[in-house]
Amino acid sequence: MLYFILIAIAVSKDANLTIGLDFSDNSYLDFFSSFSKHYDEFHQNGLKVNIVQHLLPCYSCYKRHQFKQPEKNCLGGGRYCQYSDYASGQVILKELLRQQCVLQVLPNHYFNYTIYFGQQCKKSTMVNCAQTYFSNNNISTEGIDTCVENSFEEGEEVNQEIRTNKILNQYKELQYNQTSFSVHLDSSDITNTPYDEFLSTMCSKYINISISFCKNIEKPNKQTDNGNTLEQVFLFFFALIILILTASGGWTLLSKIQFGSSLVPKSRIAIPKLEGDHIIQEDDI
Ligand SMILES: *[C@@H]1O[C@H](CO)[C@@H](O)[C@H](O)[C@H]1NC(C)=O
Ligand SMILES: *[C@@H]1O[C@H](CO)[C@@H](O)[C@H](O)[C@H]1NC(C)=O
Ligand SMILES: *[C@@H]1O[C@H](CO)[C@@H](O)[C@H](O)[C@H]1NC(C)=O
Ligand SMILES: *[C@@H]1O[C@H](CO)[C@@H](O)[C@H](O)[C@H]1NC(C)=O
Ligand SMILES: *[C@@H]1O[C@H](CO)[C@@H](O)[C@H](O)[C@H]1NC(C)=O
Repeated sequence: MLYFILIAIAVSKDANLTIGLDFSDNSYLDFFSSFSKHYDEFHQNGLKVNIVQHLLPCYSCYKRHQFKQPEKNCLGGGRYCQYSDYASGQVILKELLRQQCVLQVLPNHYFNYTIYFGQQCKKSTMVNCAQTYFSNNNISTEGIDTCVENSFEEGEEVNQEIRTNKILNQYKELQYNQTSFSVHLDSSDITNTPYDEFLSTMCSKYINISISFCKNIEKPNKQTDNGNTLEQVFLFFFALIILILTASGGWTLLSKIQFGSSLVPKSRIAIPKLEGDHIIQEDDI
């Protein structure tokens, strides 16, 4: 049975990795550092990476001016906000747009750039620091700048600070309200999965495609093939016990134990209610 479950996992379609981030949290760095070495090959073979950023709300902006006036810590006239002690919310939001555009325009630089940014650029003049990465790598930022520019909706508003933004709207719709990093592979939460385990799961999704570093990784569904007798004996007795339990009317009890709690649908994103809400207040803006 285990064998068939593993086969089913291996046969599933292209992988889809969803990464949730919060600007004030750097705990993404470990995962990103490991994954930056492997992303390129997965990407070439169809891996999709979706980024969601945690945005802060401005509760009073709509009441005060219907998002029609600039706010120092917000874009869209208060639709999307950020806050930190060392940079204005607008500077942070523009940086989030830049990062999303790096993912779209130069995907093979996304992980290296965000690692560089997390290590070097927070708590400094962020714009110049970010530029250094691109000049060090001889990359023209023209495509990225155009992408950021185009993410602002064309409209009657001349002032960019109060225009709506396609990328930030997407983040807002996805409502990532966590204050730290999380990763979902398809719809399962793998934030706390050890990297090796994550990598072998990824490799098993690309089992028919030759990916250089996957050759050295044990494929989970090969283990039972190799005839580990001890494991087979164990599995045999395990199956026997289940059979006996089933036969002896223990099935209802067992199904309660097994499925009682695990089938309760879990929300993909847990929301700490208290977080951040007090940060953007009328007196801040
Ligand atoms: C992998 O190849 C096997 C046969 O070689 C095939 O049955 C299976 O559907 C393939 N899996 C994927 C995900 O393409
Ligand atoms: C990203 O960093 C890794 C490790 O430092 C390096 O091997 C790789 O070439 C870099 N990728 C790009 C596109 O610069
Ligand atoms: C960038 O270009 C300069 C000269 O054009 C060259 O000396 C340098 O090695 C290049 N750097 C990289 C990372 O390609
Ligand atoms: C996330 O936060 C926003 C703003 O505080 C709130 O409107 C929204 O309901 C929250 N999301 C969820 C899923 O509760
Ligand atoms: C990727 O998975 C997430 C759920 O984790 C889902 O909301 C999203 O639509 C998926 N995206 C694609 C392109 O399949």
